[in-house]
Amino acid sequence: MTVSADNPKGETSSSAMEAFINYNKTLIEKKRAHPGDDLVSGLVQNNGQEETLSDKELISTIFLLIIAGHETTLNLISNGTLALLEHPEQMHMLQQDPSLIPAALEELLRYTSPVSLCSIRWAKEDIPMHGEVIRKGDMVLVSLIAANSDPAKFTNSAELDITRQINRHVAFGKGIHICIGAPLARMEGQIAFTTLLQRMPHLRLAVKPEQLTWNHTPMRSLTRLPVTF
Ligand code: HEM
Repeated sequence: MTVSADNPKGETSSSAMEAFINYNKTLIEKKRAHPGDDLVSGLVQNNGQEETLSDKELISTIFLLIIAGHETTLNLISNGTLALLEHPEQMHMLQQDPSLIPAALEELLRYTSPVSLCSIRWAKEDIPMHGEVIRKGDMVLVSLIAANSDPAKFTNSAELDITRQINRHVAFGKGIHICIGAPLARMEGQIAFTTLLQRMPHLRLAVKPEQLTWNHTPMRSLTRLPVTF
């Protein structure tokens, strides 16, 4: 991030980043001194394995887990809530029959694609595609939103259907780098939607949908979601 007089936000981001790295350093020292039954303690300890992670590797792993595990799930919950508010008949169906929650969660993952792009890949060989060629060595960014709305894969792909039977979405990516936190995210999502629908049965949007604004990041994230309940 470049910090300059005409980029005050850069300055804020840099200092926030520095504070976050320092937080991680302190956390690692604490867990080294007093290990507990938690993930960071597990990472800092040798655990009988030959190789341990260097401090740099530890910081980046913890950093990745916190970042990758926070905004993503937040987007699933906020985008999913918006999708349900925009489809009151589906929200009503879910309120009447909470056993639909697991299938509904998969559909909300597909329909809202909380992470819009998969991580970077490089082509191992020339790949002809739609009259173009992705050359060996080219960087490839796959749009998960596009894949999740592919009409060749999903019947009525533009529709939200919480009872969708075959739902092989790629909201968590695919292959060797598929999201390591997917089981946790699914659990968090199921708990969040079950609780939200039970506790706030009269949830409504407090603004017109066209007044909602979105952040411009590789995530699909709302700046805020004003509701009444
Ligand atoms: C709704 C929530 C989530 C969504 C939609 C999501 C989505 C994704 C996607 C699309 C990728 C890239 C996969 C690829 O390139 O093939 C990814 C990677 C990753 N995710 Fe998630 N994620 C979520 C929650 C989480 C949580 C809760 C954690 C951890 C606590 C997590 C940790 C990671 C990590 C560490 C990677 C990198 C994996 C690798 O490169 O091998 N994610 N996630």
